[in-house]
Amino acid sequence: MFYETASNDHGLPHNPFKAIVSPRPIGWISSLDADGRTNLAPYSFFNAVSDRPPIVVFSSSGFKDSAANAEATGEFVCNMASWDLKDEMNVSSAMVSNETCEFELSGLEMASSRLVKAPRVARAVTALECKRLQTLRLKDLDGADTDNWLVFGQVIGIHIDDSIIVNGKVDVTRFKPLSRLGYMEYAAITEVFEMARPKV
Ligand SMILES: Cc1cc2nc3c(=O)[nH]c(=O)nc-3n(C[C@H](O)[C@H](O)[C@H](O)COP(=O)(O)O)c2cc1C
Repeated sequence: MFYETASNDHGLPHNPFKAIVSPRPIGWISSLDADGRTNLAPYSFFNAVSDRPPIVVFSSSGFKDSAANAEATGEFVCNMASWDLKDEMNVSSAMVSNETCEFELSGLEMASSRLVKAPRVARAVTALECKRLQTLRLKDLDGADTDNWLVFGQVIGIHIDDSIIVNGKVDVTRFKPLSRLGYMEYAAITEVFEMARPKV
């Protein structure tokens, strides 16, 4: 099948786009607002986009609290969601007012970050402390503003729980990072394989 996205005439019961661009890692963004209130929310329009320096990005569909907080404070933490935190991650995505602390809502303990003020998820086995670099409002093909905002952050500190380091490497089968697929589907990485790059 083929369809054009302008008409979205795929004829399927649900839009397949996100199932095609899958899996997507889930950046679980913790931040503080200008008054010091904590905020936590998952973003699967998220990825690392550079490693020297390490830079991550999340995309806010609408200018949500995480984007506003990153703008207001210049900082955020990206906790990586993993299999054993899937339910808490899901609860923290509830659309609640900024008076409600998603850490409390999802029964999660906070831990202090080292280099930024925003707390991190204590049980997350990896977390990236970030300083906001820029926020970019996306335009469409007509040059019109969309309501999608990319927040770029440079990673300045990285937490790794010792339990997932095996033989000097992060063992992804212990980490079990959670991925977002399409529809209501998720996956967790439980198997890996190695492949060397060709020697030219
Ligand atoms: C797995 C998952 C991934 C999500 N990814 C995104 C995303 O990439 N962009 C977005 O705007 N909302 C995303 N959401 C919805 C937000 O988490 C939700 O709107 C949340 O309330 C935003 O919180 P905030 O306003 O505190 O930032 C996602 C939700 C879930 C459960």
